[in-house]
Amino acid sequence: MNTLVTGGAGYIGSHTVIELLAAGHDVVVIDNLSNASRAVVPAIESLVGRELPFVECDIRDRDGLDRILASGGFEAVLHFAALKAVGESTAEPLRYHQNNVAGTICLLEAMAAHGVKRFVFSSSASVYGDPADTPIGEDCPVDPRSPYARTKAGVEGILHDVHAADPDWRVSILRYFNAVGAHPSGEIGEDPTGVPNNLLPFVAQVAVGRRERLNVFGDDYPTPDGTGIRDYLHVVDLARGHLSALDYLSATPGVSVHNLGTGRGHSVFEVVRAFEAACGRDIPYRVVSRRPGDVAVSWADPSKARDELRWTAQYDLDRICADLWRWQSTHPHGFRGRKA
Ligand code: NAD
Ligand code: UD1
Repeated sequence: MNTLVTGGAGYIGSHTVIELLAAGHDVVVIDNLSNASRAVVPAIESLVGRELPFVECDIRDRDGLDRILASGGFEAVLHFAALKAVGESTAEPLRYHQNNVAGTICLLEAMAAHGVKRFVFSSSASVYGDPADTPIGEDCPVDPRSPYARTKAGVEGILHDVHAADPDWRVSILRYFNAVGAHPSGEIGEDPTGVPNNLLPFVAQVAVGRRERLNVFGDDYPTPDGTGIRDYLHVVDLARGHLSALDYLSATPGVSVHNLGTGRGHSVFEVVRAFEAACGRDIPYRVVSRRPGDVAVSWADPSKARDELRWTAQYDLDRICADLWRWQSTHPHGFRGRKA
């Protein structure tokens, strides 16, 4: 399939592009490089041995999108481009809605104008808010609790409206749980700017000596060891979920919603122990107060993706930590400093 990938230079997008190229799909990446390095493009090319067309373009640049869509003969768009920091979204809600919602509207308008009507959307488990029950199924009520999560829920609503008005659209909404790990080659991985917000990138930077110690946000949750429990999904498993979604779209009209998660939960302390085993070093930590907005427990019921997309996660926490350590230890400063 001939695909356009927005945000394809970012963390999940770049891993998905590798899987798409390896499976024989044609890919064009657009990214405004607001949270990515151009160096990821040659890194992907040398991994897969194929050229990767890349255009620096913002999804809000309608003229730019028109030029790309007019030249491409695209059959589907995989839409990763978004701002994703929950805390930042609380401080800058308009920037988040402008980028994530207005940007997606601009992209959808351009697609409609060029007759491209297959769309895979990166949504988030954060749309569920603080659900009463785990595991979390797709029928759990949507209750976004942050501006970031509201951009995701808002775009989901827009996609349902677009399909209702024009049933030619085929839309796959993928609600990701916690994307972690790195490509097994150690050549591609997450490259957070500044201090990482998320647990595993922070732990990896402690292990490599960039941070002194981990702050564990609370050990008084109602969980077996008192720390928060999440569903950590290897980024390569997540990437492969997009290929399954593309196959599903080809066979199935309408709008579908699927959780992508493992169906297993791990506590913060379990993650720390698994990473210590992977890197052979101690991870110093101290317990501090809870992070506002955090929930005690979140993990997916992934059975709908298993049954409909024929997708299940293959990699466990030990493999996640081993692959992340390979990337972090060989690229302690990520892509920064590497030439494109
Ligand atoms: P990322 O920041 O690494 O990738 C997003 C990419 O989009 C970046 O390369 C950035 O430069 C680009 N981008 C942002 N705004 C753009 C714009 N206006 N025009 C063009 N490019 C733009 O993030 P990621 O972790 O790879 O996340 C990918 C998608 O998955 C996002 O939509 C995110 O909200 C969603 N998501 C991520 C997670 C996770 O665990 N990382 C979980 C749930 C959902
Ligand atoms: C965060 C986002 C969520 C997004 C998900 C995947 C927030 C509030 N939520 O989820 O929207 O979908 O990432 O990108 O940012 N922890 C520590 N110390 C740290 C960092 C985290 O103890 O330095 C703990 C947290 O309290 C939590 C667990 O580790 O229990 C996982 O945290 P994190 O990796 O930030 O993911 P989420 O909060 O689940």
